Amino acid sequence: MIITARNPERVHHAGRELGASIAAFDATDFDRLARFFDELPAPIDHIQVTGPGPHDVPLAKFDLDEARRELDAHLLLPLQVAREAAGKVRPGGTLLFTGCTARGPTGEGRTFISALTAGLSAVTKSLAYELAPVRVNLIAAGFVDTPLSEAVLGDRMDARREQLRSTLPIGRVIGPADIAALAVHLMTNTAVTGGTFDIDGGQQLVEG
Ligand SMILES: NC(=O)c1ccc[n+]([C@@H]2O[C@H](COP(=O)([O-])OP(=O)(O)OC[C@H]3O[C@@H](n4cnc5c(N)ncnc54)[C@H](OP(=O)(O)O)[C@@H]3O)[C@@H](O)[C@H]2O)c1
Repeated sequence: MIITARNPERVHHAGRELGASIAAFDATDFDRLARFFDELPAPIDHIQVTGPGPHDVPLAKFDLDEARRELDAHLLLPLQVAREAAGKVRPGGTLLFTGCTARGPTGEGRTFISALTAGLSAVTKSLAYELAPVRVNLIAAGFVDTPLSEAVLGDRMDARREQLRSTLPIGRVIGPADIAALAVHLMTNTAVTGGTFDIDGGQQLVEG
C-alpha cells in the first residue's frame, strides 16, 4: 500500500501507523503525478483518489482562477490519474474516486461545485467503459466528520454533529471508517463498475 498527501510529516505519520509506503507531493501538480506513476511497479491492484475539498463560492465572488484550480482538483485530477493508471492497474482492479452526493452541492455558493459533482459521475461512467476490465466507481459522500469538515465549519462543528445525530435516519455522524468500508467493498466486489455510490446516512432524505 502507498499513501500520498502534500504534508510530509502527516503522511509519514500515517504511513508508519498503517505500515504503508508514502509519497509526499501535490497531486494537482500533474508533472509530479506522472513521475509518481512512472516510478510505481505494475501491476497495481487499486487506486483511490480523495484529495482536496471543494470551496463554496457565491456567484458574486466567483473567480476564474479559483474555478480553474477547482476544475484541476475535482475533474482533471481524476482524469489524469485514469490516464496514468491505464495499463498499470490489473484487470478487475479498481479506480475509485471521491465526490459529494448530487443533492448536497445545491444552494448558494455551490453552482460550480454542483457542475463538478455531476461531471465526476459522468466521467466515472465513461471511464468504466473505456478502461475495462479495470473497474471505475465513485463514492458520493454526504457530511463526513473529517479535518476538512472541521476546517470549513470551525466552531460550528459540534452543533452540526449534534444536529446530524438528532436528524439523520442512522442516528449518528458518518466517519472516515464508513467511507473506508464502502471503498473496500467497491474494491473487492468485482460485479461493480461505472457506479456512483451515495453514502450519507440518509442526509438527502431529511435535508432534501
Ligand atoms: N468531509 C466531507 O464531509 C466530504 C463530503 C463529501 C465529499 N468529500 C470529499 O472527499 C474528499 C476527501 O475529503 P476529506 O474530508 O477526507 O478531506 P481532508 O480531511 O482535508 O483530507 C484530505 C486528504 O487529502 C490530502 N490532500 C488534499 N489536497 C491534496 C493535494 N492537492 N494533493 C495531494 N493530497 C492532497 C490531505 O493531506 P495534505 O493536506 O497533507 O495534502 C488529506 O490527507 C474531498 O474530495 C472532499 O471533497 C468530503
